[in-house]
Amino acid sequence: MFKKIFYSLLAVTLLCGVVSCQESVSHVGKRVFKVAQQQFKLLDARLEPGEMPRTLNADGTPRNNTSISYWCTGFYPGSLWYVYEYTGDPEIKALAEKHTHYLDTIVRARTHHDIGFQVNSSFGNAYRLTGDKAYLPYIESAAAKLAKRFNPVVGVIKSWESNKKWAYPVIIDNMMNLELLERASKLFSCDSLDQIAKTHARTTMKNHFRDDYTTFHVVSYNPEDGSVAIRQTHQGYFDDSAWARGQAWGLYGYTMMARETGEADLLAQAEHIADMLLPRLPEDGVPYWDFDAPDIPNTVRDASAGAIMASAFVELSTLTADPARAKACRQMAEKQIRTLAGPEYLAKVGENGNFLLKHSVGSFPHKSEVDVPLTYADYYFLEAILRYNKLSK
Ligand code: GLY
Repeated sequence: MFKKIFYSLLAVTLLCGVVSCQESVSHVGKRVFKVAQQQFKLLDARLEPGEMPRTLNADGTPRNNTSISYWCTGFYPGSLWYVYEYTGDPEIKALAEKHTHYLDTIVRARTHHDIGFQVNSSFGNAYRLTGDKAYLPYIESAAAKLAKRFNPVVGVIKSWESNKKWAYPVIIDNMMNLELLERASKLFSCDSLDQIAKTHARTTMKNHFRDDYTTFHVVSYNPEDGSVAIRQTHQGYFDDSAWARGQAWGLYGYTMMARETGEADLLAQAEHIADMLLPRLPEDGVPYWDFDAPDIPNTVRDASAGAIMASAFVELSTLTADPARAKACRQMAEKQIRTLAGPEYLAKVGENGNFLLKHSVGSFPHKSEVDVPLTYADYYFLEAILRYNKLSK
């Protein structure tokens, strides 16, 4: 009997040596969502009412937000909605509702262009998954507020308020906020929101990108005539470098705009960015914090950029007409998902301040949030897996 078991095990081991026994992506997803389901309940339990998770401090203690103005406050509710989408767990749904409603007064708070991120990931997912019309007014008023930041002379939404350095700063990240406008445009039959989003995307295409399709982080405009005043960075290594998350926002932003509008030039821009990124990514698919950081490989990775790219690559693989590019995008997304689901990046239940992913970077030059968990890394990682799962059905 024992001999039989021993030889069966030996046969399986030998077979695995010949035929690779790689965990299927669907199993990877199951494993990740099981961790997320447990971590996010523990995360909620460690928060005081009204507190929103943000990251961990250098000494490992939690850092939370108490102001809803912070640009990341939609990602924890959004992640809860994704876990609910995957698991159907009613306890997670109740947490998602609770944390979404912490943002009820968002349009009255001090807002900025990131109201798009905040409201789309929370209320946007809430409405998408429940169909509850009570969520609609939040989406409608947030989109109206975001649209007010658009200046037709410049042709872009203003990201940050004017400061000594920049009169009309626009960051590549702003592409992400256009999804709220596109969603609201369809939900409320408001064509002007779609026009604003498309104009912003095209002005950004013209002014943010270099010839090799890497993007600057910040472009500041002269508001009187819409001309470019200066191109710089805020979170990258230097003005001309390719800050990893900025490249990820660009890839995701144009892919999302291609999906929402069906416009060929927006899809072509996403394809160009993908073609630039695919050969430049490290072997395991997770970028260093800036593609031009001088100390690669002796510097930190940014899991958040890897997760955002993975989600965008999955989507782009479904939009691009070129089968070779579609395959390359899908394979890269798969690689990124596998790496992020490995022990180096994925937390064990009870660790990592109850966030999901380790090793993200907020702003390296400001020595802020370096090599820590971040809520948006978790959000886009879960989204990437959900999107990948839909591919194989
Ligand atoms: N939107 C800010 C960032 O990507 O850090």
